[in-house]
Amino acid sequence: MIPGIIGSSAVMREVYRITRQVAPSNASVLLLGETGTGKELIARAVHDLSRRRNGPYVRVNCGALSESLLESELFGHEAGAFTGALKTRTGRFEAAHSGTIFLDEINSTTEHLQVKLLRVLQEREFERVGDTKTIAVSTRVVAASNRDLMEEVEADRFREDLYYRLNVVPIVLPPLRTRRDDVLDLVTHFLNVYNEENDRYVLHIENRAIEALRDYDWPGNVRELQNYIARAVVMAPGDELTCDLLPEAIVGGAAPRRPRQGAADVETLAYELVAQGRATAGPQEDNLYTKIVNRVERELIAQVMADCDNVRIKAAAKLGINRNTLHKKLKEFNFEEPLDPGA
Ligand SMILES: Nc1ncnc2c1ncn2[C@@H]1O[C@H](COP(=O)(O)OP(=O)(O)O)[C@@H](O)[C@H]1O
Ligand SMILES: [Mg+2]
Repeated sequence: MIPGIIGSSAVMREVYRITRQVAPSNASVLLLGETGTGKELIARAVHDLSRRRNGPYVRVNCGALSESLLESELFGHEAGAFTGALKTRTGRFEAAHSGTIFLDEINSTTEHLQVKLLRVLQEREFERVGDTKTIAVSTRVVAASNRDLMEEVEADRFREDLYYRLNVVPIVLPPLRTRRDDVLDLVTHFLNVYNEENDRYVLHIENRAIEALRDYDWPGNVRELQNYIARAVVMAPGDELTCDLLPEAIVGGAAPRRPRQGAADVETLAYELVAQGRATAGPQEDNLYTKIVNRVERELIAQVMADCDNVRIKAAAKLGINRNTLHKKLKEFNFEEPLDPGA
């Protein structure tokens, strides 16, 4: 385990093991994983668990700055190096001397900067922009990418030599949907954090909410979960985290809405298909019902046709669509139905 990092699934324990093993060395570390999987936390842990822990830890988001701004941010510049460079500026590599520099979103760097980074990694030296004096630093490099960097190399967007320099020890952060056993621990952790922060006492979690949280796909990983719990804690009227405090994308799958009107059982069926994992709902879909139905339409029609013994007029009525629409859909899907005398 690593303090402040939650999750005891086998895949996370492996991440902790590699992190602890590599931290005391000076090896470059490359963190790979989708957004919100905890790359920044691990970068910090690599520093805190190293012999450089009392030195500086400097983070630079390479994706947030233009090429020239990033270059002077990383390496510094001399006064007059370019328009607006009024004073000499120390770069972040120098600032991180005797400590660790975390290059986040390293995949967004340009070819020119990749060459400069390669040199720092190889020679541990560089020049400030607009200067000829060489500066030597002892800075440990941790880099992160939310893209598969090898793929970027193959697409000629990332230099292969730099890739191998950075990738001395890769650590892959698994997406949350592949370690659902960690979800409840994370929810409990963030409930504590936000209870404390907001002076709240949301201490219980409704069973249906636990199920829904576990089953959700978490495209935004831990960051997404953290945001939802933050909101739920603030909005909770009592001491329980209930389904209605969670976004519809999460509870839609596990908690079928109350059926309405004639199409009631069809709607329930659509939600069941989602719950069974035959279709998934994205996070920012507003008209969830329509979206789900679109995705499961084929499956839905097949099931309703079977329920109605392939009598189209019955199936159309049950689906709440007219017969021509059903004919069209069946043709679209190349639907094979057994010969039915009643149709
Ligand atoms: N395993 C974890 N335990 C506790 N908090 C986590 C964990 N993973 C991520 N977080 C939190 O989720 C958010 C996103 O994590 P971050 O490290 O910034 O992800 P990334 O850099 O991969 O996008 C942060 O607020 C972080 O503290
Ligand atoms: Mg990040």
